[in-house]
Amino acid sequence: MTKLLELNNVTKVFKGGTVALDDISFSVDAASPSVIAVAGESGSGKSTLGLITLGFLEPTKGTVLYKGQDIHKLRGEAQFAFRKEVQAIFQDPFAVYNPFYKVDHLFYEAIKNFKLANSKDEAQRLIVEALESVGLRPDETLGRFPHQLSGGQRQRLVVARALLLQPQLLVADEPVSMVDASLRATILKSLRKLNDEYKITILYITHDLTTAYHVSDYIMILYKGSVMEAGDVESVIRDPKHPYTQLLIDSIPWPDLQRTWGQKEIIIPDGTEVIGKGCKFASRCPHVMSICREARPPLYFPNGESRVAACYLYEGQPTLSRDDVGDLFATVAHKQAAPVAAD
Ligand SMILES: Nc1ncnc2c1ncn2[C@@H]1O[C@H](COP(=O)(O)OP(=O)(O)OP(=O)(O)O)[C@@H](O)[C@H]1O
Ligand SMILES: [Mg+2]
Repeated sequence: MTKLLELNNVTKVFKGGTVALDDISFSVDAASPSVIAVAGESGSGKSTLGLITLGFLEPTKGTVLYKGQDIHKLRGEAQFAFRKEVQAIFQDPFAVYNPFYKVDHLFYEAIKNFKLANSKDEAQRLIVEALESVGLRPDETLGRFPHQLSGGQRQRLVVARALLLQPQLLVADEPVSMVDASLRATILKSLRKLNDEYKITILYITHDLTTAYHVSDYIMILYKGSVMEAGDVESVIRDPKHPYTQLLIDSIPWPDLQRTWGQKEIIIPDGTEVIGKGCKFASRCPHVMSICREARPPLYFPNGESRVAACYLYEGQPTLSRDDVGDLFATVAHKQAAPVAAD
């Protein structure tokens, strides 16, 4: 199977010693484009994973390959292709706009840089197509300055711009956390559409398990830079196996899953505890056993299911080889276009 993206044993240690990512291996199969949520609490390493995937940060250890090539060694055409094919959407849609340019500039610049059109007419046609595909009316958006648009419109423009480049991989880091609830669903629908219709693989980075559930096919749950649980979103969210995931899911409201506000208190990492050789969650885990403090648990398949959990509760079950949760994603059936809830 050809890999679109491959992270091999990636560790990122920031100055000061923060281990933001701890030996993560994760790949994305080129043949089955899907929406993959990267979820976890604040500080769990989600954005670091996104930035490393985009090549904006270099790993301290390990490699990142795009179509089999180390992204930090790309030159010439391969580098150009990477820049076009791997796009990003961030939390703050204002950040990508220069306030002195009309929003059209964002599109024309992309068209020029990536040589997407041969004439002004063709450029115009591409822009209109991209806008309409995210539910924006060209006459209501083009010719305006960024401040003349709503937050939701601005974020959809960013999605449209990404679409224009026809990327193969889109890293969306908290794309809806700054837009209000009523627009969240529209933007998430546009993202879902990029996958369903244009076959773009999306890494959807979020701390919000509700939207992750609605928009993604697969999910990986990070805790202190390590994967705690991963698999198809339906299994992981509806029937979490890792005590950390169970706790996360218990602590959020689930209007459509008939769940209520947490019966258990949410746990917020305090950053003060020393991470030893055992499971990072051991000190907070209600099921902790002595083995948990001795060695990092591998990723087990609980009951041979289509998901893995890094937890000794499942000792004796098969483990995931190479710890590449992406291998797992490629083998599970793709979710059909899911309805997206308003909030
Ligand atoms: N440039 C940096 N320099 C030093 N430490 C950093 C840097 N960027 C991130 N970190 C640290 O690395 C850890 C992971 O940060 P990261 O931004 O990846 O978390 P996150 O899961 O995206 O959190 P959030 O949900 O708050 O966005 C945190 O402890 C953070 O303080
Ligand atoms: Mg972040």
